[in-house]
Amino acid sequence: MEAYTILAKYYDTLMQDFDYKTYLDFIKNYTKGEGIDLCCGTGTMTILLSKLGNKMLGVDLSSEMLNTARNKARENFQNIIFIESDIFEFEPPHKVDFVTCVCDGINYLPQEEITKLFENISRFIKKDGYFIFDVSSEYKLTNILGNNVFCEDTEKATYIWSNSLEDNKVIMQLSFFEKEKDDLYRRVEEDHTQYVQKQEDLLKALSEFDVQVFDGQDFSEVKKDSRRLLFVCKRR
Ligand SMILES: C[S@@+](CC[C@H](N)C(=O)[O-])C[C@H]1O[C@@H](n2cnc3c(N)ncnc32)[C@H](O)[C@@H]1O
Repeated sequence: MEAYTILAKYYDTLMQDFDYKTYLDFIKNYTKGEGIDLCCGTGTMTILLSKLGNKMLGVDLSSEMLNTARNKARENFQNIIFIESDIFEFEPPHKVDFVTCVCDGINYLPQEEITKLFENISRFIKKDGYFIFDVSSEYKLTNILGNNVFCEDTEKATYIWSNSLEDNKVIMQLSFFEKEKDDLYRRVEEDHTQYVQKQEDLLKALSEFDVQVFDGQDFSEVKKDSRRLLFVCKRR
């Protein structure tokens, strides 16, 4: 099954410990005006940015993730346009003040496509506007996620997440066990591929921007074992 088909149902439950509010506190000085949230998923950050008074548009490939995003935006009284599109094909109608892509969106994109993508994104952003994105670091993908198995059995979700690291990418097989009746469970599976994005390669691909890189968890300087890297890129 395609990535983010089954997982869409469980995504917000699995992300409940992710601290979007502290992340927002850090990026909110760079994200003012009209913005596009690429790989917006279930729209948690899109909605938080909208609640600050920004005019937001969310883009994602998964119709299942976008359904949740649209419902959440409605429940939160936020008027956000969500567009189902591949990030590589998306063209906004006009330039915006900022573009975000948070929580690993860039890890889903093959390394050889990144330079072209960043050039394209730079054309969406007004001079002095910002492109803010993060990646799960090379350290996290190779030392923590790669060739490892994770599982969880809770009231809301039961899954096995099994990874294999090969050629600078992690192939993830997710198996969810959904209760059908009494003790009967149905196993449903989907595969994800996350690409290792090296900091130096990303910096090279950001030639249209002045870039600062932070540890994406504590927002201090990047360390050897930083698990998330946050890029704050100002359009020249
Ligand atoms: C880890 S989720 C992040 C979702 C969201 N940004 C968040 O903060 O929770 C990655 C998202 O990237 C989307 N995605 C992956 N490849 C994409 C592509 N080529 N174009 C558009 N969206 C893509 C997936 O559908 C998924 O919703």
